[in-house]
Amino acid sequence: MKALAALLLFLAVEQPPDPPVEQTKKNIKVLKGLPTSQLLPMMAFISNSLGVNCDHCHTKAYESDEKEAKGVARTMIVMVRDINERHFGGEIAITCTTCHRGSIRPRTTPRIADAFFNQPPAPPRQQPALPPVAAIIEKYLKAAKPPGDAHGTVTRVDGASAPFTLHNGEVKTELEYPPEANDALQPVALNRDRLAAVGIETVRGHEAWVLEQRHDRLYIDTQSGALLRWHRETQIDLGELPDETDYDGNTITWSRGDERLVFKLAE
Ligand code: HEC
Ligand code: HEC
Repeated sequence: MKALAALLLFLAVEQPPDPPVEQTKKNIKVLKGLPTSQLLPMMAFISNSLGVNCDHCHTKAYESDEKEAKGVARTMIVMVRDINERHFGGEIAITCTTCHRGSIRPRTTPRIADAFFNQPPAPPRQQPALPPVAAIIEKYLKAAKPPGDAHGTVTRVDGASAPFTLHNGEVKTELEYPPEANDALQPVALNRDRLAAVGIETVRGHEAWVLEQRHDRLYIDTQSGALLRWHRETQIDLGELPDETDYDGNTITWSRGDERLVFKLAE
């Protein structure tokens, strides 16, 4: 019993509090029970699916129901859950993206451009020979700069910017943005046993090996071994939310459906 109490205390200390969103926000009707930390990722997923920014559904007071689209979004969230529950055994088979694909008005009429005779020829299935994963990782680790302290300027997609510092892995800045963006300044965690080399692609004009780990992808420069891009997908209540970090010399860019941040590192 004492051990359990100690464990609970330990958990209580270790885990930052993450109360259900209806306790921390003002007007939650369909997302009750969702941990507060999940609200913004969910809003990012919805915005990305419809190709809109927050102001499509919100006024400055986020709790306001003034905009009609917000009410429609509520019924859509309920509908999507219902379809998945009833037709796909509770799996997330249908998401906002399935219908919307980056537009507020899903297409209902098929396009002649999509007819079978207009399909692009299937790419050759034969993949170029890829080196073993271990060799790619070795090359990457050799090229990787040891993570250390840094400072510079961070700029949001709306143009607002501020200085930032990275000290002992902790990012500090006055600028407000989704906290997940700070992962862009951390070393990428590699799980050597689960990484697979899946192909070669071009990133910003550089040929890159693509390493895959579940839905995450690392793009490694075949010439220099440098990490060019990290594509990540995080499971949330509505589906997989993608974000992407591009590494280009002293410029690190983080993109997600709701925000893009450019970190410029000072020399
Ligand atoms: C397509 C419509 C839509 C878009 C776009 C959208 N939201 Fe929402 N948002 C909602 C809905 C619907 C709710 C209420 C959910 C509920 O009732 O459970 C909500 C609730 C919220 C709340 C809680 C407000 C409160 O106090 O009750 C916040 C904060 C929020 N959204 C932020 C954002 C941000 C930031 C963005 C842009 C990244 C965004 N939303 C984009 C539909 C949207
Ligand atoms: C099964 C297909 C389907 C799915 C899945 C779907 N929608 Fe929709 N959505 C539609 C259709 C169709 C319309 C257009 C309705 C109309 O024009 O009257 C629409 C319209 C909307 C609108 C109103 C657009 C506007 O003009 O502002 C919002 C907001 C919306 N959807 C949000 C969502 C969200 C959020 C999700 C995921 C939780 C979602 N939808 C999932 C089919 C879908």
